[in-house]
Amino acid sequence: MKKKTIVVASNNKGKIKEIKALLPDIELLSLSDIGVSDTPEETENTFIKNALIKARHAKAFTEHTVIADDSGLEVFCLDNMPGVFSKRLYVNRGGKTEENMTDSACIDKLNLCTLLKMMEKKECDKRDARFVCVIALINSDRTEVVFEGQCRGRILTEPKGSGGFGYDPVFLPDGYDKTFAEMDDEQKNGISHRANALRKLKEYLDD
Ligand code: IMP
Repeated sequence: MKKKTIVVASNNKGKIKEIKALLPDIELLSLSDIGVSDTPEETENTFIKNALIKARHAKAFTEHTVIADDSGLEVFCLDNMPGVFSKRLYVNRGGKTEENMTDSACIDKLNLCTLLKMMEKKECDKRDARFVCVIALINSDRTEVVFEGQCRGRILTEPKGSGGFGYDPVFLPDGYDKTFAEMDDEQKNGISHRANALRKLKEYLDD
């Protein structure tokens, strides 16, 4: 039987690898595989709307089913900040970067320090938080469906661990004594917000 093809509206190899592990029977194509080099601005104020922006942008270039995700960290004592601004927290709070700064590990560190400073300033004694991931799917017939996954935990006062990316070094998932950055890929991918959204996507595709 011919494999179903899905376009993932991303060029992030890590993300595509994680999706591939859960959907081995599906042929996955990245944005660059379908010849798309530009990505749209994520201008909305919810994960769902931003995931749909990315999915609709990619859908304009292909007849295949498309998926796109948007994710971030919500810290409850900060009224769910940084949320949709997770990727650009430092810059949004007035931080300056070199004009052509593209090193994502460096930007991640600046974002993480900004978050810890915001929590210190607000004297957050409760440090509960959650990672959220929304996956938007657009079928070949253009019907749209969204899947949401979350992972709840706590924000530490100092980073721990050197794996992962983004806010992983300060995120301690509920029920574990290791941060996401201290876990290996397999362990993080078993419980992450992205994995939980992907499981819902898989159930939908298997139906
Ligand atoms: P995006 O969904 O790839 O646009 O991710 C948005 C931002 O949320 C990232 O740049 C990170 O700052 C944060 N983020 C999303 N998922 C994770 C995760 O699994 N670990 C750490 N940070 C994450």
